[in-house]
Amino acid sequence: EKGGYEHFMLKEIHEQPRALKDTMLGRLEEERVVLQEVDLTLDQLAQINKVYIVACGTAWHAGLVGKTLIERWAHLPVEVDIASEFRYRSPLVDEHTLVVVVSQSGETADTLAALREAKNRGARVVAVTNVVGSTVSREAHDVIFTWAGPEIAVASTKAYTTQLEGMVLLGLYLAQVKGTLLSDKIGGIINALKRIPAQVQEILDQESLIKELAKSFVKVEDAFFIGRSLDWAVAMEGSLKLKEISYIHAEAYAAGELKHGTLALITEDTPVIALATQRDVFDKTVSNVKEVKARDAKVIGLTYKGNTSLVKSVDHVIYIPETLDELAPILTVIPLQLLSYYVSVARGCDVDKPRNLAKSVTVE
Ligand code: F6R
Repeated sequence: EKGGYEHFMLKEIHEQPRALKDTMLGRLEEERVVLQEVDLTLDQLAQINKVYIVACGTAWHAGLVGKTLIERWAHLPVEVDIASEFRYRSPLVDEHTLVVVVSQSGETADTLAALREAKNRGARVVAVTNVVGSTVSREAHDVIFTWAGPEIAVASTKAYTTQLEGMVLLGLYLAQVKGTLLSDKIGGIINALKRIPAQVQEILDQESLIKELAKSFVKVEDAFFIGRSLDWAVAMEGSLKLKEISYIHAEAYAAGELKHGTLALITEDTPVIALATQRDVFDKTVSNVKEVKARDAKVIGLTYKGNTSLVKSVDHVIYIPETLDELAPILTVIPLQLLSYYVSVARGCDVDKPRNLAKSVTVE
């Protein structure tokens, strides 16, 4: 059942090219996206003045990426909220709000409660979920299914990358209906998206390099993930993966925020993983990398293959294939998933069933 892999997590990491392909199947025309289960007209969208994305854990991290995409492409202000916070803070949600709930299982208690709360307040609710027939999929007005297939390992991998893809599709859809992106621009993004599954495979083919790198993490107690913009969102996911399956304390920081306190924790014993893909803030991120290098941290950088400058400022670079910055999260997370996996294995942890955690959290 693990298809020859030692753990479900590794199998699921390797299923991502297929899962990403399935999730775009039938949804991409040359310069248009087609979302069969979403039916928002221009008139309805014209009434929407705000978007909330609500989810838990890894799905919330996907929402953080969704925020930037929807704001950038569809010109709508977006707030991202953790479901257990959203439901108890009387959010400013009404019939002019679009609420997007993201949930692999479609059964997470807090996410479901947030969905119901949003509906009670008159909001239109779009769900991004992986399970057909799940409560979330039945109760939302519109649904974007991710076609990751069953995810067994507690640590989410293929569900996350397909959720990111769901965010791309939703962002493009909203922009298309609102007319905020020209069709040739949409066409360019679609072309780049179509290349993503093969690019994920390209990273998976470099697995042995990550496995080697993981050895240096066996005795680590604290690690930092830093980045700006979309790289920061992925840093949070990388940090969560490392924590949950290898039990190494990890923190994700907006790179520019380190010097406001956390830099005090950086020593030669704290490896820093610096995500540096986003072109508009690349130089700023490099300055932050220099700050941690000055504290003797060992820095692993992550950037596009064509980038020849990062290597000068870090100890080791992991390269990902070049893509649009908006799509980079789907690629940057792959080495981070592999790193967590191999660190967990090297530390003798129970990869697929980490302590204290359940796959689906149906209690609040
Ligand atoms: C982490 C992880 C969890 C889930 C979270 C939400 O690897 O899997 O953080 O993402 O419990 O679950 P769903 O997406 O089923 O609502």
